[in-house]
Amino acid sequence: MVQTKTRLPYFDSLLTAFNAGNSEVLQAFGRHVHWGYWENPAAADGSVIDFAKAAEKMCRLVCDAAGVQDGLRILDCGCGFGGTIASLNERFSNLQMVGLNIDERQLARARQEVMATNGNQIEFVEGDACQLPFEDGYFDIVLAVECIFHC
Ligand SMILES: C[S@@+](CC[C@H](N)C(=O)[O-])C[C@H]1O[C@@H](n2cnc3c(N)ncnc32)[C@H](O)[C@@H]1O
Repeated sequence: MVQTKTRLPYFDSLLTAFNAGNSEVLQAFGRHVHWGYWENPAAADGSVIDFAKAAEKMCRLVCDAAGVQDGLRILDCGCGFGGTIASLNERFSNLQMVGLNIDERQLARARQEVMATNGNQIEFVEGDACQLPFEDGYFDIVLAVECIFHC
């Protein structure tokens, strides 16, 4: 049974839509569950594909601002369905990445969808970002993409 504090209503809705085979919701939120970035907002066309591209763009901007480079140890707090780790996995090599999430249902999907490549290592761990289950200083970079407001 999922504990009450892990049951975010918007993730209940997403998982219900995925299970019902709603392809638009899957395209929009199957990888990233955050808002998007449009260099030119006037060019946004309102389509799911355009939204998914903008969500990926936002993820890349955050990771680039954090200074991700090959070979680092990276923690992604509130990793959702693993979209940020999937993006890093495609762009960089020899990363040691851990995705942390309070909701095991999301982690189960992340483990199914995101397979390590490029010499990267990936682990998805259940835990609370407010009480990190890792030793201090273990990671080079800690990301939290649209997660902090929950904490
Ligand atoms: C808006 S979603 C963002 C998901 C992901 N970072 C992304 O960009 O696709 C917020 C995420 O934070 C997670 N979360 C909320 N509170 C948390 C906590 N205390 N510890 C770990 N994860 C948490 C939720 O389960 C959810 O996956």
